[in-house]
Amino acid sequence: MSGALIPVHSIEPLADAVPVGPAPTWEARLVDTLNRPLHDLRLSVTDRCNFRCVYCMPKEVFGKDFAFMPRDEMLSFEEMTRLARISVAHGVEKIRLTGGEPLLRKGLEELIAMLAELRTPAGRPVDIALTTNGSALAMKAQALKDAGLKRVTVSLDSLDDTTFRAMNDVNFPVARILAGLDAAHAVGLGPIKINMVVKRGQNDHDIVNMARHFKGTPYILRFIEFMDVGTSNGWNMNAVLPSSEVLGRIHAELPLEEVAPNYTGETSRRWRYVDGEGEIGLISSVTQSFCHTCSRARVSTDGKLFTCLFASEGHDLRALLRDGSTDEQLSDAMASIWRRRTDQASALRSAQTGAVRSSGAKKIEMSYIGG
Ligand code: GTP
Ligand code: 5AD
Ligand code: SF4
Ligand code: SF4
Repeated sequence: MSGALIPVHSIEPLADAVPVGPAPTWEARLVDTLNRPLHDLRLSVTDRCNFRCVYCMPKEVFGKDFAFMPRDEMLSFEEMTRLARISVAHGVEKIRLTGGEPLLRKGLEELIAMLAELRTPAGRPVDIALTTNGSALAMKAQALKDAGLKRVTVSLDSLDDTTFRAMNDVNFPVARILAGLDAAHAVGLGPIKINMVVKRGQNDHDIVNMARHFKGTPYILRFIEFMDVGTSNGWNMNAVLPSSEVLGRIHAELPLEEVAPNYTGETSRRWRYVDGEGEIGLISSVTQSFCHTCSRARVSTDGKLFTCLFASEGHDLRALLRDGSTDEQLSDAMASIWRRRTDQASALRSAQTGAVRSSGAKKIEMSYIGG
């Protein structure tokens, strides 16, 4: 694409170039009411975080007195692995560990080692990924790799130190995240993705700079529209910079062309530099929802299964894990929840209200369910 920019909105989603994988060998693939298979499991391993990102855990809400989850309410690694094993039997091929900040969970490597033993019905290992703020990555990258982690995604909202410190709101310097990225790359935790949540007026001045910095490197930078998850982050539409604008700003200086998704249900739309120096991703939950292919199940640290990021209630799997239920009973429970799934929150919100925040409904927080 060398001529005028084609705005994101005017482009129809590309046909998937790469299928999810070879046809499943088990009897019938588990799908929901909209025919979406269960493919990703996002396991939140802690609701705590050492950052207070303004769009996720604002200090006014998550202050000194905030009641985080008591230890006995958290699933053990054995319980998490049991749920993961059952999910894999139902078609899950990717497990992403999230938080809060997952590296704050003590002994996380042990959980990774247990998950790394799992095999899909077709006999393949599971793709085990981690979404982290990167603050402890320099120290932990090698141990994570040794335990069996495949890849990391690191949140980084700006290269401008002042902006970054203000956004994480704990004065954490950008240089230490960059050192974490280097360490992750050095031990082979790739492909490494970088998530930049864009807030208009706060870090959008750094978009092109971020693109330029990571162009031609092994890192895949993804721009995320600020989402109205939870009820504490003061979301409003004015603070959302639509992905079409992000794309426009980058494309004006560093020409891009769209490429097909890596897999069905991918969160980001991929764009590569026409000079061949890598790619970026745009995650546009607000202006261009991707619910129609959403294949993600989320389990909170206390063992609730959520079938959507914007759900208000989860399904209590911990009760089953702790009341002597058999694997078969757990498996049936998970399958029946997925079969009944109708969620398409972003799509409905955009269609009905033009992306205006729905009011009043109880919503779970990002730090509780891990994004
Ligand atoms: P890959 O496996 O590398 O494709 O990662 P991912 O994009 O699935 O996971 P990641 O944790 O990097 O998520 C990127 C951003 O997309 C985060 O801001 C998530 O909160 C958001 N996101 C992930 N899944 C969903 C989803 O199902 N719905 C919505 N609305 N946002 C999501
Ligand atoms: N909107 C968009 N992305 C968010 N994240 C956290 N809160 C929000 C929000 N309100 C991102 C984090 C991390 C990922 C899991 O979710 O930056 O990269
Ligand atoms: Fe912590 Fe991630 Fe939330 Fe920032 S976005 S406060 S790093 S959980
Ligand atoms: Fe999936 Fe819900 Fe996100 Fe839509 S809003 S993509 S259904 S998690």
